[in-house]
Amino acid sequence: GETEKVNTHIITLTRFLTEEQAKFPEATGDFTLLCHALQFAFKSIAYYIRRATLVNLTGLAGSSNITGDDQKKLDVISNDLFIEAMRSCGKVALLVSEEEDEVIFFSDAKGARYAVACDPIDGSSNLDAGVSVGTIFGIHKLPEGSTGTKEDILKPGAELLASGFTMYGASTQLVLTMKGATVNGFTLDNGVGEFILTHPDMRLPRSRAIYSVNEGNSLYWNDQTNNYFNSLKQAQADGKPYSSRYIGSMVADAYRTLLYGGVFAYPADKKSPKGKLRILYECAPMAQVFENAGGQAVDSQMRRMLDVAPEHIHDRAGIFMGSWDEMEKVKGFFK
Ligand code: AHG
Ligand code: MN
Ligand code: MN
Ligand code: MN
Repeated sequence: GETEKVNTHIITLTRFLTEEQAKFPEATGDFTLLCHALQFAFKSIAYYIRRATLVNLTGLAGSSNITGDDQKKLDVISNDLFIEAMRSCGKVALLVSEEEDEVIFFSDAKGARYAVACDPIDGSSNLDAGVSVGTIFGIHKLPEGSTGTKEDILKPGAELLASGFTMYGASTQLVLTMKGATVNGFTLDNGVGEFILTHPDMRLPRSRAIYSVNEGNSLYWNDQTNNYFNSLKQAQADGKPYSSRYIGSMVADAYRTLLYGGVFAYPADKKSPKGKLRILYECAPMAQVFENAGGQAVDSQMRRMLDVAPEHIHDRAGIFMGSWDEMEKVKGFFK
């Protein structure tokens, strides 16, 4: 009968986190609490994005951030929501955000042991068109004895305790991973207000003939970059060229790449010699997700992205990431 079709074996994010925590007898529950605050921030941001057109939240805020981007109203609101969630959970000592010039220290959070980096809205140029955007985050654990300094977050991604991103698309998706662990995908069920585990142990397909890059920048690319992308437009072993897919929101292009495979790139070029995407809250968290899902991520010098440590909090890097075999092909062109 119909009732047999209803799935009652549901793993919510809350349950997932509780069960993960139980695997570590020494865990204090602080990280779990931090994740609860994170998921509240995601739900709030998703809610405002969905209502933006109705409540006059489209358009520019009239300011720009330190990396030179014009801030949208929703960049500012989402940043405030994210910061307040991190402050109020009491477990975060310091925070770096794309929308904040300097590191924010939560000095009231006594005994807080985590440092968080975030891109409150990734893809914000797409907001007013209703195209998918998301939030990217990376979480570091403070070294023993530290009460939180800028150095505690100027770390290579390889040291990230956890990272992930959301995508506010046709549905709200959350992708979460921890150091050396699997990647798990959750879908927000608006009816019950919970993230539900829908994509356990996400693994990138080994290869897929899809490339994702802002090809309008090819004028500024070096020869290696042009040669690589041109090669994808030639007949491959099956006689067909690659398909091109570029949304212009890294979270959405990354999410598709995780599920379907392929390669996503924002190479360094003559216009942006250090690349466009920022290491702490764009490149490193994505690289951890992609590696833990069986893919690869490198910078424009073909260095493992997770080994790149920024000097300053808003430093950038070129990035290539995707399926294992596609990345081997990329590296072949840059030898
Ligand atoms: P953000 O909206 O957080 O500033 O990030 C924008 C990023 C990223 O989402 C996307 O991959 C890329 O910028 C798109 O850049 P172009 O418009 O230059 O293609
Ligand atoms: Mn921006
Ligand atoms: Mn971004
Ligand atoms: Mn952003």
